[in-house]
Amino acid sequence: MLAIGCDHGGFELKQEIIKYLAEKNIPYKDFGCDTPEAVDYPVIGKAVAHAVANGECEKGILLCGTGIGISIAANKVKGIRAALCSDCFSAEATRLHNDANILAMGGRVVGPGLAVKIVDTFLNTPFSGEERHRRRISMIEEE
Ligand code: RB5
Repeated sequence: MLAIGCDHGGFELKQEIIKYLAEKNIPYKDFGCDTPEAVDYPVIGKAVAHAVANGECEKGILLCGTGIGISIAANKVKGIRAALCSDCFSAEATRLHNDANILAMGGRVVGPGLAVKIVDTFLNTPFSGEERHRRRISMIEEE
C-alpha cells in the first residue's frame, strides 16, 4: 500500500498521480487534502510519514508547492527518509543509495508527465542493499 498526500500547492499534481496509480492498479491510501483550499502542509506530511513509519503503508508520496516544506515535515518522523526529487536520476539514486521511503515533489516545480516518470522510477527501483549504504543510513538515525 502506498500513502499519498498533498497540500493545496500539490493538489492538482496529486490528481494526476492518482490517475496514474489507478491505471497501473497500484493500491494507495489518500491522506488528503481533498480540495484545492489552503491547508497546512505539516499536518499532511506527518500523517503520511506516520503511516509509512508504523508500517501501515510501504512507501509514500508527498506533494506541496515546492515539495520542500512537506518533505522537511515528513523527515522529522523517526524512520522516514523523504527525498525531494525533480528528476528521474535522483529518484533512482535515492532508492538505490538512501532506501528513501517517501518521494516528495513540487506541484509548482514539475509537470505531470515528468512527475509520473519520477513516481514510476521511485516505485520500481529497489534499494541496492550495499553495506556502505546500509552503514550510512543507520548513521542517519543515530543521535
Ligand atoms: C503553500 O503556499 C506553499 O508554501 C507550500 O505548498 C510549500 O511549497 C511549502 O514548502
